[in-house]
Amino acid sequence: MNRIIVLLMLLGLSISCTSKKNIKTNKQKIIEVAEVQYGKIGDVYKSKLIPRTHHKDGSLRSVPPFDWTSGFYGGNMWYMYELTKDDKWKERAIDYTEILDTIQWYSGNHDVGFMINCSYGNGYRVGGKEDYKQVLINAAESLSKRFNNNIGLIKSWNYRKAWNDTTEWFFPVIIDNMMNLELLFEASKLSGNKKYYNIAISHANKTMENHYREDYSSYHVVDYDAITGKVLDKATCQGYADESSWSRGQAWGLYGYVTCYRATKDKKYLDFANNIANYITTHPSIPKDKIPYWDYHVNNKDYKVEWDYQNGVDYLYRDVSAATITASALIELASYLSEEEANNYIDYAKDIINNVSTSKYMASKKEDNYFLLKHSVGSVPHSGDVDMPVNYADYYFLEALSRMLNYEEGRHVLPEKTSIAAVLQQL
Ligand code: GLY
Repeated sequence: MNRIIVLLMLLGLSISCTSKKNIKTNKQKIIEVAEVQYGKIGDVYKSKLIPRTHHKDGSLRSVPPFDWTSGFYGGNMWYMYELTKDDKWKERAIDYTEILDTIQWYSGNHDVGFMINCSYGNGYRVGGKEDYKQVLINAAESLSKRFNNNIGLIKSWNYRKAWNDTTEWFFPVIIDNMMNLELLFEASKLSGNKKYYNIAISHANKTMENHYREDYSSYHVVDYDAITGKVLDKATCQGYADESSWSRGQAWGLYGYVTCYRATKDKKYLDFANNIANYITTHPSIPKDKIPYWDYHVNNKDYKVEWDYQNGVDYLYRDVSAATITASALIELASYLSEEEANNYIDYAKDIINNVSTSKYMASKKEDNYFLLKHSVGSVPHSGDVDMPVNYADYYFLEALSRMLNYEEGRHVLPEKTSIAAVLQQL
């Protein structure tokens, strides 16, 4: 028994000390695991499919281009290229990016931002692929078709029912939609057309008004009357309860408002992002290693839940994807703050990067994992991708790693090709 206590104390000590470790010491290890795990995937793109996660038996589950996760795998290859400068990764990145060619015309849901910005967007940013610029503009135009001028918001999903199949949503807007604004900002900069920028600003402002609670936690879904703009419902789809905090949603919101500040330099977005970051990083439900459960309030009896997953079997899963999205966003946020203000966020992000790089969360070279990180959650209420590796956890992990390396070099995160503010002032 005593031995167990000493072991637990040592474990606690090693977790609390991880942030002091230089991030560069992890980089080589991560690249080596990626060589093996991504190497096992092979040429799935030849069948026009993109690696997303595992099936329950551990085999690779790949999806067609219109799946919301389709842009991340190409994005992972671009980040591997950025981190290693090895052309092998660039070749794979191009293959997995260009099978999404038709998505630039897709307006069936809001996810075109994720799909195109994470693949083609990174190809344009780090791959020298000038021909991708028009794809980004076309995709922004497709996404803009979902903007409703009456109410100033982009519709996330077409008509949809909640998990329980009884609640109907007519103009559902989900917090995840904040992630699609980056494509719009980028397209305004590239095309000189301020329309996309204006749509993004309108969406961000309305989301601030209606998705957020006083403590800066966010609802997952807000449903609107498309004519009057009246809020019809505030609820969850992938979270534990309507009033709870779905972990990935908190991370999407944080990342989204940091992006809004990058694009506009409007301090209200910086302050808002800071408040969300404060909510996330000080929340009492976050475990010591900073990898949250899939919902901050899971199993909390104060929250009214109408569903009973697996008849009460323990479902306290961690969501590594929520952690890596948070880490990446915090590093960018830190780069806009004074060094003193930034340090807390940098330490927090470093802890996440270092802790997910341990054998508890990262695949070993011997496993047949196909991805870098284990233990993410797609949606517990839908029993989808629960406690699995997912391509988007890897994406934001590699992005966070790359951003942290930049930050350590000179407190910058993203090289601004041309400031969007400078471009838009001329319009
Ligand atoms: N819709 C994206 C997500 O599941 O987070």
